[in-house]
Amino acid sequence: MPKKFYVTTPIYYPSGNLHIGHAYTTTLADILNRYKQTKGYETFFLTGSDEHGQKIEEKAKEANQEPMVYLEDKIANFKTLWEKLDIKYSKFIRTTDDYHEQTVKKIFTTLLEKGLIFKGDYEGLYCVSCEEFLNADQITEDGNCKISGGKPQLVKEDTYFLKTSAFQDFATKVLTSDFLLPEYRRNEMLKNFVEPGIKDLSVTRTTFKWGIPIDQDPSHVVYVWIDALSNYITALGYDQNDDSLFKKFWQDPETEILQLAGKEIIRFHAIYWPIMLEGLGLRQPNHLLGHGWILSKDTKMSKSLGNVIDPIALIDEFGADALRFYIANDLPTDKDGNFTMDLFTESFNAHLANNIGNLISRTNNMITKYFDGHLGDDLNLVDKIMLDEANKSIEKFELLMDQYKISEAIRVVLDLGQTTNKYIEDKAPWNLEKEGKLEELKVVMITLQRMISIISFLLSPILVKNSEIMLEQCGLKTDSLNFDNIKTFENIKFNKLGEKAVIFQRIK
Ligand code: MSP
Repeated sequence: MPKKFYVTTPIYYPSGNLHIGHAYTTTLADILNRYKQTKGYETFFLTGSDEHGQKIEEKAKEANQEPMVYLEDKIANFKTLWEKLDIKYSKFIRTTDDYHEQTVKKIFTTLLEKGLIFKGDYEGLYCVSCEEFLNADQITEDGNCKISGGKPQLVKEDTYFLKTSAFQDFATKVLTSDFLLPEYRRNEMLKNFVEPGIKDLSVTRTTFKWGIPIDQDPSHVVYVWIDALSNYITALGYDQNDDSLFKKFWQDPETEILQLAGKEIIRFHAIYWPIMLEGLGLRQPNHLLGHGWILSKDTKMSKSLGNVIDPIALIDEFGADALRFYIANDLPTDKDGNFTMDLFTESFNAHLANNIGNLISRTNNMITKYFDGHLGDDLNLVDKIMLDEANKSIEKFELLMDQYKISEAIRVVLDLGQTTNKYIEDKAPWNLEKEGKLEELKVVMITLQRMISIISFLLSPILVKNSEIMLEQCGLKTDSLNFDNIKTFENIKFNKLGEKAVIFQRIK
């Protein structure tokens, strides 16, 4: 039986178009999903849109449209972006999908019947942009939300509460396990939200209508976060007629479940979501990978702050792989990162054009010139030292990717690229040819071809389109390599080099 992997992104608010901050989370999920597929896992990759709540209701009103009409274009734009960015999700969930709405009602009822939800009233400051009641430490001295910068509204209303306060010990246990990554985020959560005492969470609202009404009291709609978090299981068919995907990708303890979330929503995913699952008697995900923000001029890139960069324009000009590479390589998940056109250009030129692109074009030119593009595939004619070096890189790459450390894993491959470029300088194949040392020349060229194949294969989850071109140019079928044969190249046949294509041309 193949191993299984379930990966999810947060579902995005369609209150505007997506920017590269959103593309960041989804690209990381797509890369990990593709990596697991190359390791032979059966995978399921979920993304979608979070369509209820006060913010969407207000945006639709501003546009003078019914919410569902307002949403149509926005969702079409989401899907266009994912397609352009080569995001291959298994399912796109909308929280307005009927099956989701019906299941959220059932989840609410189950928790109510278990005594984990009760009725009360609530007074607090609510940030519409974040769809969240704010604690004192989430508010600036001038009374604004620290994250969105907006003025919170004073809300006083009847509400149902989820008895999250009863799960203090449980939340502590979750946050002292290896569930939340990176590790330093665990302490942050414990210190800021658990140790001061978890307060019961208000889970319904009455002052707006755009949400899922509860059967027991239809003037209440389910609070957007409870509705939204449930998507991770409703999408798989939880509590529905056909729950085979849910059984396979959630309940099976053998399935590795990874959820991704940006730092401002880690709290919901690391405290409230595990409590909801526990309340429902369901298993927990293996890991939550929390990541930092993409900053633009030192502040979070966000629609409400108006400093966003449009990913579509970047993809149209430089291709999806260039953006995927910048996200994966230059924006490690354990801290905030910057996006500027200068940084983007610098990284592309240094790593993709000068290192990888140059290596491929030099090597392929020499194979064409000296061997008419075909080296044969005698396995013995390989430089053992270089092959050992490559095998060590493969092992390191796998180890890091298995810990979701994508940018460190890419570093290993880029280093191998540099070592290989240096190998060309050291061996100076042009001299070997001049001196008539053709056997030696062949060993060098076969070795180079192997190295490039390995590099192309390892980078394939990131460079979706270019890795195919790179492998074809090596004379390989794109699906001929896998983690079983990559170290020995057993039974792999190199054909004549594919048609030459210029890849990773320097950005001027
Ligand atoms: N709808 C909620 C999530 C519900 S999940 C059950 C939400 N939506 S969002 O559209 O505001 O944000 C979705 C994700 O995008 C979050 O993980 C957030 O951190 C990420 N990003 C939004 N702007 C970002 C940056 N500037 N940089 C990196 N990621 C950021 O929250």
